[in-house]
Parts: sequence; structure tokens; C-alpha cells
Amino acid sequence: MKAIVTGAAGFVGSTLARRLLNLGHEVVGVDALTDYYTPSLKVSNLARLKDAKFTSISGDLNDLPLKHLIDGADWVFHQAGQPGVRKSWGEDFGVYSKANIDATQRLLEASRQSSTLKKFVYASSSSVYGDAERYPTLETDRPQPRSPYGVTKLAAENLCTLYASNFGVPTVSLRYFTVYGPRQRPDMAFTRFVRAAVLEEPINIFGSGEQVRDFTFIGDIVEANIAAAIEETEPGEIFNVAGGTSISVNGVLTLLEALNGRPLDVRYGEKVAGDVLQTGGSTSRIFEMLGWRAQTALEDGLAMQLAWARDTFGRRGDSNA
Ligand code: UGA
Repeated sequence: MKAIVTGAAGFVGSTLARRLLNLGHEVVGVDALTDYYTPSLKVSNLARLKDAKFTSISGDLNDLPLKHLIDGADWVFHQAGQPGVRKSWGEDFGVYSKANIDATQRLLEASRQSSTLKKFVYASSSSVYGDAERYPTLETDRPQPRSPYGVTKLAAENLCTLYASNFGVPTVSLRYFTVYGPRQRPDMAFTRFVRAAVLEEPINIFGSGEQVRDFTFIGDIVEANIAAAIEETEPGEIFNVAGGTSISVNGVLTLLEALNGRPLDVRYGEKVAGDVLQTGGSTSRIFEMLGWRAQTALEDGLAMQLAWARDTFGRRGDSNA
């Protein structure tokens, strides 16, 4: 199959692209190499994709000729976007709406004209739920984002559903619940925590640390994307992709301390606007329809991320976070 992966230089996009190449698929990776975090990390993610079946396109989805890009593709995995729940307030909002809403609409317009496209998989987010009605949250529960970021992810997801119902674009939206694992984005909690643990630096917690997340391992996220592409689904489907272990940030720190074998220097500060108290997703629907369920226990995934951090930050001792 020929797959387009947008955001191919990012954490999820690059891991997914590598897996697709390993499975023998042809991959066209698109990335704008924005500077939300240091682009050198993205360049090194792209270097891991070196393969005769990989083509890299550098550019912004709001500028590139997308019809030409999508021509002949079987699958689009739309992973590109402006991430970060806590930074999406204020003047930056325009960046979020352009990268997350406008770019998705352009990609859907181009997909609408394709005669070869079999699946359009959109990387949505648990942040569409905000403080959810109940836990575990069902896909049919009312989305009520608490951050501008969540609003843009929900708007783009609604566009997917709209293009599915009006034009039959074969979209599937995957609501990722806090993805972690080796090469996770440097602004996210686990990378900050494991890096600080390895370098024996302080760990700064936003609020009490009692906020709960349904953390999901990157390998499981990748397999959910592949299942969404391969299995038959009705256009416009929406699935939670959640790891199945709702744990507090303090609980994660306890696990990390045990894995690392040294006390952590944890400091508590102010809660940050946009941060929800809890996420926890029901995965009954994705199991029933795609046969997917998370395979990686949090302890194992965290151990893998800690091993990666020792390798990355321990020896070189550099500061790319
Ligand atoms: C993450 C991603 O950043 C979003 O892009 C994604 O859409 C979202 O998951 C989601 O699943 O919807 P978040 O849950 O905030 O957002 O992920 P982390 O950065 O891993 O934070 C987890 C928790 O740790 C948050 O409550 C955060 O406040 C806390 N945290 C994070 C700290 O206490 N200290 C830090 O240095 C970083």
C-alpha cells in the first residue's frame, strides 16, 4: 500500500512511518519541521526513516499542492498538528487553528477528489472530552474541551465526520490518550520526568500531581492506526485509543522512582490552565470493531522510556529537551 503520513518527523508520525516501512509499505512523509520544539529532534526522527520506500516532503499542509500529493495513495495518516494543551492560549491560538483546523480541511478537500484513497486516519485527542461526563468515557459522551488546543482538535474531528457524511471520505478519527514511550515529545510529562531522573535534576509538577491520565504506549497507538487503515469501517468512525491504566501523575512518579532506584527530587507548583483533572477512555468500541486493545503495561512502557532516556541523555548528557 502507499501511505501518506503527515507529521512524519514527529513522535507518533515517525514511529508509525517506520512501522509501515517495516511492513513493506511505501510511505510519503510530510512535515513542516516547525519549531514548537527543537527541529533537530525532528531531523533525527526523519533519519530513522531512511529506506528505499520512503519519500520525504518538507512543507506546510496549508501551502503544499495536496491533490497532487494524495494522488495514487491508499491511506492517509494525518498526524500533523500543533500539539500542546497548555500553550494554546493567547496569541498562539492562530497557530493552533491554522495547523489543526485549516490544514485538516485542505487535506480532506484533496482526499475528497481521490479515487484511490481507502482510509483517512485522523489523529484526534482525548483533550476533546475536557473534564468528561464519566469514566471510562465513551465516544458518544459529550465532548467539552477545556483548552483551545482541544477545541481545534474537536473542530478538525468534526470536519472529518462532515466530509465522511457528505462526500464519503473514508475517515476514522482516533482519540489518542496521552501517548508516551521512547522519543516522546520533549515538552511532555514522561520525557521531562525520565530525563530529570537520569540527570538527577528537579521534576516540576503542575498542581498537586493528583491529576489522572490514561497513558497509552506509542507501539499500541501505531497498531491502532494500522488496524484503522486495514479493517472495514463506516466513513466517519471515531474511536478512543487508551492504554487502560488510569494513574495519577504522583503514581507515575512512584513507579519511576522504583524503576530508577534513586529518590526523585519532586517540586510542586501552580496548576496550569487547560489541564484536565482526569482522562480515562473506554476501549470497548475499538476492540469490538477493530479487535484492538492496548498490549503494553504502564510499568513496561515506562521502563522502555527510562532506558531510552539513559541512552539519550545519560551518555551524551546533552540538553535537547
Ligand atoms: C497530552 C498531549 O500533550 C496532547 O497533545 C494530547 O492531545 C493529550 O495528551 C491528550 O491525550 O489529549 P497531557 O495529558 O497534558 O497532554 O500530557 P503530558 O504532557 O504527558 O502531561 C500529563 C500530566 O502531567 C498533565 O496533567 C501535566 O500537567 C503534568 N505535567 C506535565 C507535569 O506535572 N509536569 C510536567 O513537566 C509536564
